[in-house]
Amino acid sequence: MKNFEFYNPVKIYFGKDEIDKLSEILIPYKKIMFAYGQGSIKENGIYNQITEQLKNYNYVEFAGIEPNPSYETLMKAVKIARKEQVDFILAVGGGSVIDGVKFIAAAVKYTNRDPWEILSKQIEITDAIKIGTVLTLPATGSEMNGTSVISKYATKEKLAFGSPLLMPVFSILDPQTIKSLPDIQIANGIVDAYVHVIEQYLTYPSDAKVQDKFSESLLKILIEIGQELLNDRNNYELNANFMWTATMALNGLIATGVPTDWSTHLIGHEITALHGIDHAQSLAIVLPGVMQVMKEDKQDKIIQYAKEVFNIYNADNEETIKSAIVKTEEFFKSLGIKTKLSDYNIDETITKIIPQRLKERRYLKLGENKNITPDIVEKILKIRL
Ligand code: NZQ
Ligand code: ZN
Repeated sequence: MKNFEFYNPVKIYFGKDEIDKLSEILIPYKKIMFAYGQGSIKENGIYNQITEQLKNYNYVEFAGIEPNPSYETLMKAVKIARKEQVDFILAVGGGSVIDGVKFIAAAVKYTNRDPWEILSKQIEITDAIKIGTVLTLPATGSEMNGTSVISKYATKEKLAFGSPLLMPVFSILDPQTIKSLPDIQIANGIVDAYVHVIEQYLTYPSDAKVQDKFSESLLKILIEIGQELLNDRNNYELNANFMWTATMALNGLIATGVPTDWSTHLIGHEITALHGIDHAQSLAIVLPGVMQVMKEDKQDKIIQYAKEVFNIYNADNEETIKSAIVKTEEFFKSLGIKTKLSDYNIDETITKIIPQRLKERRYLKLGENKNITPDIVEKILKIRL
């Protein structure tokens, strides 16, 4: 196991009606921005729950943060937050709203230059407005981490940044909020959380028993509850288990002391930026390709994954690896998520465009061994056509 420091200060309020604590939690703040997405909270009643909690507060609303939140939309919020001297931002929504709010929180304090530089030049964040979240979609883990992924529509870019200063002060996770999720968002959430675990687990062995067993458990839970969740949208216990699994998948815990990959995400972000497909769908396309092309580097862990998660015991390593890749892809498909570029009418030009874009960004060495070069990315994409 490698040396590590681990600090996660996000206070979690988990369970039924925890949203009712919001008015008390917000006492330290004087001017709040209440930010949300494109209207789902108005349909499922969460908007009314929040405004009830805010009724004695001085607050401004910012609506309309879109899936794959854009710099263009968020800069409008930055203007308002500066003008209104907001000292706290409450994000109510899924990963896009939470990520968007993280960008607003950092950009408000980045006053002399274009805040897009925070992403394009990876500027270190030294100051940010405090944020809190009410999660309505388990998937990204953004509610308990300091990462944010923002898109710029003008240039079709999608880039990530992060800082401990952007970890929410608190996150409220009430599983009742996710009853209204459409099937596709449930499936997306399961796949995203699944791939988060894989990015931190399917690398090379480092004798990190807690992290490995914990990761395998999270993967098994997602497989176990995936179909049930789609069949039974009103089951509180299922929703609760889904919510907590997705949060634990990307709050830093399973990344402690182990190598991490993240190549599937970086390639997937490019596909979303260019073609607008959902984040999780991009991952379901790329991951089987990464496993196949990088199978020698990853073989010990793929064999462990095959045994521990899918109960595949085969003396032939090659066969075991093959089965693990097939099972992974089948799991995604069983949830209704497609796994090939052609399923989205994306043609082979992408196999050249993405490696070129990665070169321009100087993302020349991805993966746990820093050996996934743009040429290897091309190979990965070619087998996903
Ligand atoms: O916009 P609204 O009206 O809120 O509707 C949303 C949106 O259309 C809807 N929704 C959310 N909660 C709902 C609901 N509909 C009904 N009932 C509810 N309770 O779902 C749609 C998708 O929402 P979005 O927030 O985009 O989904 P998700 O949580 O999957 O977030 C995806 C974004 O997070 C980034 C992705 O790249 C993508 O931009 N990621 C962030 C990460 C992080 N911060 O650590 C890591 C991830 O790997 C990921 O990259
Ligand atoms: Zn993800």
